Amino acid sequence: MLIRRRKPWDLPESEVTDYKVYKNRRQFLNTSITAGLALAAAPSIGLGKPVDELQVYKDLKPSPFSTDEEKTTFEAITTYNNFYEFGTGKEDPSLYATEFPDESQIWKVEIDGECDNPGVYEYDDLVKPFTMEERIYRMRCVEGWSMVIPWIGFPLAELLKRAKPNSKAKYVEFTTLYDPEQMPGQNRDVLEWPYVEGLRMDEAMNPLTMISVGLYGKELLGQNGAPLRLVVPWKYGFKSIKSVVRIRFVEEMPQTAWMKANANEYGFYSNVNPNVNHPRWSQRRERRIGEFLKRDTLMFNGYGDYVAELYSGMDLKRYF
Ligand code: MTE
Repeated sequence: MLIRRRKPWDLPESEVTDYKVYKNRRQFLNTSITAGLALAAAPSIGLGKPVDELQVYKDLKPSPFSTDEEKTTFEAITTYNNFYEFGTGKEDPSLYATEFPDESQIWKVEIDGECDNPGVYEYDDLVKPFTMEERIYRMRCVEGWSMVIPWIGFPLAELLKRAKPNSKAKYVEFTTLYDPEQMPGQNRDVLEWPYVEGLRMDEAMNPLTMISVGLYGKELLGQNGAPLRLVVPWKYGFKSIKSVVRIRFVEEMPQTAWMKANANEYGFYSNVNPNVNHPRWSQRRERRIGEFLKRDTLMFNGYGDYVAELYSGMDLKRYF
């Protein structure tokens, strides 16, 4: 008899840990953490590398793309995460990504495929040429919650230009590190590993798309995708792939980790769209973490002025 194990994405929305439940549990676990305290001192659980050991970014250029909405607290951004390489629970990444990435190894990113200037870059060489900016972006998860996160990073387009993509480069494929010793979740078959994501070339070159190396003025913690991750604010959160080790220019549309898991529920584009429901729940409203009442979800997560034209003439119900 074939016994099919229930995968996390088979859960109905009502069973996805609700933020209020999570919040109460955390308050019970550690009443001492507050948003302010979390930045000032290393709290007792769940924040990985002590916060005061993180590299600080000073004199950041604030980005005009930023929203002036109230920021989600540092505590919520760093303890309510999705990073299945460290478990499928929202708290798992903050509990189990504490040593990640292993600092004895130099992080490298390979940039290859359809380009004239491929190469393998060490983290420092990859990041140093760019001017860091602070971009306060709305992030909307497909599960129905959202946050406002002060990311630090630089436009992906600047990095891609350095690799000199050729005329066959129609898409960009991103891959997360594969290392089951460091990422125990990769020993379970919840997704096909390594995690892969993709963007169309024009989406990747859009000025909103960024590589993030930090948030709230400090370098990224493991749970948020250290040392560098993608951020695509007009798409559902799962497009924003963490801990990237490979960027490849390709001619064909990449098969992403979530498309491989369930192509009926997770399409390639995954634009935030209140008019296209997830097959098992509505996408019309969202709960902003830290707020009680739900709010209406905005088309393209409110970034339509910058990105709507990328999809003009496309049937977004078909290309979801
Ligand atoms: N990247 C990798 N490698 N593995 C993941 O499980 N989860 C995605 C995305 N990037 C994920 C990932 C999902 S579902 C979301 S909502 C965001 O990361 C969450 O980012 P955050 O935890 O920093 O808020």
